[in-house]
Amino acid sequence: MTRVFSGIKPTGHLTLGNYLGAMRRWAADDQYRSDALFCVVDLHALTVDHDPARVRRLSRQSASLLLLLAAGLDPEQCTVFVQSHVDEHARLSYVLECVATDGEMRRMIQYKEKAAREQRRGGSVRLSLLTYPVLMAADILAYGTDEVPVGDDQTQHVELARDLAVRFNQRYGHTFTVPRATGPAVAARVMNLQDPVSKMGKSDDAGPGIVYLLDEPDVVRKKVMRAVTDSGQDVVYDREERPGLANLLEILAACAGGDPAELAGAYDSYGALKKDTAEAVVEVLRPVQERHRALSADPEYVDGVLREGAERARGMARPTVDAAYRAIGLLAPVDASDR
Ligand code: TYM
Repeated sequence: MTRVFSGIKPTGHLTLGNYLGAMRRWAADDQYRSDALFCVVDLHALTVDHDPARVRRLSRQSASLLLLLAAGLDPEQCTVFVQSHVDEHARLSYVLECVATDGEMRRMIQYKEKAAREQRRGGSVRLSLLTYPVLMAADILAYGTDEVPVGDDQTQHVELARDLAVRFNQRYGHTFTVPRATGPAVAARVMNLQDPVSKMGKSDDAGPGIVYLLDEPDVVRKKVMRAVTDSGQDVVYDREERPGLANLLEILAACAGGDPAELAGAYDSYGALKKDTAEAVVEVLRPVQERHRALSADPEYVDGVLREGAERARGMARPTVDAAYRAIGLLAPVDASDR
């Protein structure tokens, strides 16, 4: 059976971008047709300046985890867990650092962008920000993953995981499955409504350009109605020349169905397009928010899911990570029964 793995970082409240780019497919499709694992990747949240209490809060309760369940993940169908509960990720990451190169890490677009942002703020760049893609590769490779359903911004990292798997296998013998990224048909990169050439990101400063999954319907409507559009009167789908309009058309297509270019032909004003887009987003978020309310009232259920998820994940990752340790030349620990 196909093995699917994906993750979400608890660095902020989840956005419409996370949902349309990744989470929705996990819930609607991946969990049913594959042996799937979905992970709150909390170790990754420590790569930039962070507040420990906030990371814990975001990881454990409301935002990430509850919403993964609220978005429709069914623990009977898939494994949901927190990365730091399974030691295998960090164990494998070190071994993969011995396969990756410094140059490869410095070419990662997200590293370059985030490091530059951190430096502009006068902060220092954590070493873990540079090595982050290796930990992500470990997340993926530890589980013999075939497919990694992600948005556009993560494909370079999945490519790196592929490269490391191939290199490791060639040097040390076949150990890892070579994974591939899968993307959504539309909305692989949802853009910020106020700045449609930038990604709608949850770690960005809160702003009117980001739709959060828990935004009230009226807040969603306001944000979409105030979206920056391009100068011009006609409604056409052109990502390069008319990025604001293209973003709205993609969001509408992802939420209500259809093809962005064809949908463009159905509108002759920006106002009508925005109104329909806002309503489509409100409808997509409604069931997520309802389920989130129910789950918030049941922390024990969530604890149980996490406990079982971590146990299952440990059992799946351990043999592969042990095999990688042996293959690269590390001595197996001596068991009392071996003497
Ligand atoms: P993260 O937490 O930034 O995002 C989680 C998922 O949401 C997608 N996404 C988007 N898709 C479309 N439009 C957007 N504006 C948008 N913003 C986010 C992301 O592509 C991602 O699929 N490094 C990863 C987390 C990670 C991971 C992994 C993923 C760690 N280990 C192993 C897959 C497999 C990240 O920061 O995602």
